Amino acid sequence: MSQPSLLPRLFAGPALRGGSEPYAAHVERLGRLPAIGSGTGLIRELDASGLLGRGGAGFPVGRKWRSVAERGIGPGAVVLVNGAEGEPLSHKDRALLLLRPHLVLDGAELAAEAVGADEIVLYVGERHEAAAQSLERAVAERAKAEHGRRHAGSRAGIRLLLAPDRYVAGEESAAVHFANDADARPIVTPPRPYERGVGGLPTLVQNVESLAYVALIARHGSSWYREPGRGETRGTTLVTVTGPDGRPLVHEIELGTTIAEIARLSETPVLQDETQAVLLGGYFGRWLGAGETWDTALDPAAMKASGLSIGAGVVSFLSARTCPVVATARIADYMARQSAAQCGPCVFGLRSIAEAMIRIARVEARRDDLSNLERWAAQVRNRGACRHPDGAVGLLSSALETFGSEVSRHQRDRGCSFVEARTMAPVPLRRVA
Ligand SMILES: Cc1cc2nc3c(=O)[nH]c(=O)nc-3n(C[C@H](O)[C@H](O)[C@H](O)COP(=O)(O)O)c2cc1C
Ligand code: SF4
Repeated sequence: MSQPSLLPRLFAGPALRGGSEPYAAHVERLGRLPAIGSGTGLIRELDASGLLGRGGAGFPVGRKWRSVAERGIGPGAVVLVNGAEGEPLSHKDRALLLLRPHLVLDGAELAAEAVGADEIVLYVGERHEAAAQSLERAVAERAKAEHGRRHAGSRAGIRLLLAPDRYVAGEESAAVHFANDADARPIVTPPRPYERGVGGLPTLVQNVESLAYVALIARHGSSWYREPGRGETRGTTLVTVTGPDGRPLVHEIELGTTIAEIARLSETPVLQDETQAVLLGGYFGRWLGAGETWDTALDPAAMKASGLSIGAGVVSFLSARTCPVVATARIADYMARQSAAQCGPCVFGLRSIAEAMIRIARVEARRDDLSNLERWAAQVRNRGACRHPDGAVGLLSSALETFGSEVSRHQRDRGCSFVEARTMAPVPLRRVA
């Protein structure tokens, strides 16, 4: 069996326990940013690398840059660096901002140059204080080191905004809305941010990890980026792995690494026969039975073909002793509370779904709860201004598929097979992160 693939590329360099890498050390290790000229060369390199966005949707980075550059060169554009990381099970973005802030800033500066942006908006979750401070320090370090000279040719000014602690605040239209009006609720699109975003200008919204990889691809090239990778999707990625003990760990892995290998990465390896299911992709993702998913390779192209997604890189293991119905009810409750309260189907649909799920979890279900769940899920899908409700009902549907017999036992027999169930009251909800 092959060994877990731990490939430090974003996390290469000084020991991580030393904290944030200072600017001087960063430049000494990697050199200054290369000049990119018009930017089209770098965009071609990004296309060739196959780099996919790491905020959840997996959109090709080069293609997005081209869309903004086509509109932005001339009238101006904005780069919005998305470090909101609202997904409770994800910790990779704050880890990256904390430890390697200059990679993210390099990527942002390159993006600004390539798309013709005058402004870079750094958007960091208000709860990720250490990450925000690290980024702020890094901006100051660069300004001092450059003595007022703009770093690496970018002419963009920098603004740091703290994203409200809401799941939907990291959604791209919500981020743009916050930068424009201090209101982090999603807005109806089109126009999408790449057409009309911050200040009415074409805006490149890019996740911090995506930008950090750009900083390396600009220096080492697309072939270097594509060296690791076992399947169709090449490269490496950050993942947040949460074991049954609830402790999240961030790893950088080769794409194509299997769930089984990831299970062995933590100090106390996660064992298959002690694991009931894997939550892949976070609260926006899917539950998969441990048996069926253990050999799944984290290769976005292969996963897409089977209707799966790595999302924001979350792999969370559910212990064989924990009631999956309770675990799902908690997530449903959280997602309902995170609705931005603008669209009826999202507000009322997610609330009704969560209440029914909580009753089922508490073995207090009403006669129609289970059949209503399935009906409501279908009614809510594709009915919001943003994809928040789609994510919530996608996870619910996967729970009904994966834990169907346990859900039925709760509903019909008013019983639960798990000793921990009664002690884990699903409401009031505690944050899982
Ligand atoms: C409900 C919701 C929440 C999101 N939260 C985040 C987030 O916290 N951070 C992030 O980078 N992207 C988040 N996204 C994805 C963004 O809308 C956007 O696709 C992403 O920032 C683009 O960057 P990327 O192409 O580098 O992935 C969220 C999307 C949705 C629908
Ligand atoms: S779908 Fe839900 S979260 Fe998205 S904008 Fe509408 S109410 Fe807000």
